[in-house]
Amino acid sequence: MRHLISAADLTRDDAVLILDTAEEMARVADRPIKKLPTLRGRTVVNLFFEDSTRTRISFEAAEKRLSADVINFTAKGSSVSKGESLKDTAQTLEAMGVDAVVIRHGASGAPYTLANSGWIDAAVINAGDGTHQHPTQALLDAFTMRRRLVGRDAGLGQDLAGKRVTVVGDILHSRVARSNVDLLHTLGADVTLVAPPTLVPVGVEHWPCEVSYDLDRVLPKSDAVMMLRVQRERMNAAFFPTEREYSRRYGLDGERMARMPEHAIVMHPGPMVRGMEITAEVADSDRCTVVEQVANGVSIRMAVLYLLLGGNEPAVTHTRPATE
Ligand code: CP
Repeated sequence: MRHLISAADLTRDDAVLILDTAEEMARVADRPIKKLPTLRGRTVVNLFFEDSTRTRISFEAAEKRLSADVINFTAKGSSVSKGESLKDTAQTLEAMGVDAVVIRHGASGAPYTLANSGWIDAAVINAGDGTHQHPTQALLDAFTMRRRLVGRDAGLGQDLAGKRVTVVGDILHSRVARSNVDLLHTLGADVTLVAPPTLVPVGVEHWPCEVSYDLDRVLPKSDAVMMLRVQRERMNAAFFPTEREYSRRYGLDGERMARMPEHAIVMHPGPMVRGMEITAEVADSDRCTVVEQVANGVSIRMAVLYLLLGGNEPAVTHTRPATE
């Protein structure tokens, strides 16, 4: 694999290798010195044309933990505001000797274009494009589910076969939902999407998942419930449901969470809008993995960077004990 553009491009073996490598990387975070020399002398640019908190910072943390040289680029304050194109921006950065480009862009397909246009030689990693894909988010979500629902050590080499995952909210505009459906299907999980009819994409019947409009019926059969933000910024105001009505039918509060099986977890990719899709009571509960997902994101991004750029060197120099 030379680039990571879509979760749909990953085979089961690719995905399990990334999850297992991320477990090795997570052990680096437990060390007093949280750094590996793996990408010493390699340069990674974080090319962000859209706002981000978690993804941008966690890629930067992952790159630094692997000892890469890091260049951060945000469209705001750059020559993009003067009309410079994606091609010219990318070629300008490559002229400075870049080995990998991590790109977030508002246009679906921008990372694919960058990877396949011949404009640059660097590896391309999609950090979220429009409403299309966010593959590292799906990988960190799968990693979190595998740890919580299968086990940290028991999960090694395993997929998510038979796990029931419910994704709730603005599916229409969600690259996280698309990536999760693709990856979770590859890993053997059963996915159900729950959304108001106006926030379900045309053609969803061809996706490898079920669709429901009744959250209360689906919750008792879920091992993981992933809540999504309603993306007002990508929405025509005419389609925006009222907050009160949306929360009443599709929001997760303490009463609804109590209908989930005892072992089931609540997930959210962030940013959360407390009081809309999730109450503070649920967001702050032990069952909510949102902070864990952020921490796991660093390990997943280290694994992806290592596998794309690190060659055949061992990821971690110590041998993992058989049991811990
Ligand atoms: N989950 C996610 O992509 O968050 P950011 O937009 O803050 O990166």
